[in-house]
Amino acid sequence: MISARDISKVFNAGRPSEFTALHGVSLDIRLHETTVLKGPSGSGKTTLLALLGCMSRPTTGRIFLNDREITSLPERFLTEIRRSTFGFVFQQFNLIKGISALENVMAPAYPTGEKFSLLRRRALAALEMFNLEKRADAKVEWLSGGEAQRVAIARALINNPTVIIADEPTAHLDTRLAHEFIGIMADLKAKGSTIILASHDPIVYDSELADRVVEMRDGQVVSQGISA
Ligand SMILES: Nc1ncnc2c1ncn2[C@@H]1O[C@H](COP(=O)(O)OP(=O)(O)O)[C@@H](O)[C@H]1O
Ligand SMILES: [Mg+2]
Repeated sequence: MISARDISKVFNAGRPSEFTALHGVSLDIRLHETTVLKGPSGSGKTTLLALLGCMSRPTTGRIFLNDREITSLPERFLTEIRRSTFGFVFQQFNLIKGISALENVMAPAYPTGEKFSLLRRRALAALEMFNLEKRADAKVEWLSGGEAQRVAIARALINNPTVIIADEPTAHLDTRLAHEFIGIMADLKAKGSTIILASHDPIVYDSELADRVVEMRDGQVVSQGISA
């Protein structure tokens, strides 16, 4: 379980451009469920995802991961928790151009210091899960949209994360690929993953995948979306 307790996030504190992106947000993310953060652009979804995924720290408030308070941990611990717990799928996938699909999938695991041959084998297995083994050596700019999406998901899974985080994953996808994305996430959830998505796409928040839709507005949670 990930719990956010009364967190705020202030950008550019003390400067004329100071902006409070989150105001006292409290939220419990339940394991093995899909939580969708829904809300208009600027409502604080990306900011909240970054905090839940240990990519940034709240200005005030606390975050707990399985009852451990992580907010005040030193950076190197936070980095380690981020790497071992979370897999990220970024908007437009953020694949690294000029290197192969396989190298992209391996990249998040380099800091673990794992033996290259083992890592390579694991990355190939991740590509195989998505029928991409034949594309392993293709540069990412040669991939189709659907292939790039699956490479990005394979990359998010390389460190065996328990939680998958995706920010507006369908924003640049056609309807078919958006449904494919939902299907892949549903399979991962069935295998036990916890999924946190930010999206204002009805294909995402109205899908069967969404166990819970948390509505955000102006940096606040306006509906916790707890179902029966
Ligand atoms: N690094 C930053 N510096 C200043 N303001 C930011 C920063 N990141 C986000 N914001 C502001 O915080 C608000 C919420 O942004 P964001 O979390 O990206 O919303 P959403 O993902 O829902 O569109 C926006 O008004 C945005 O401009
Ligand atoms: Mg956003």
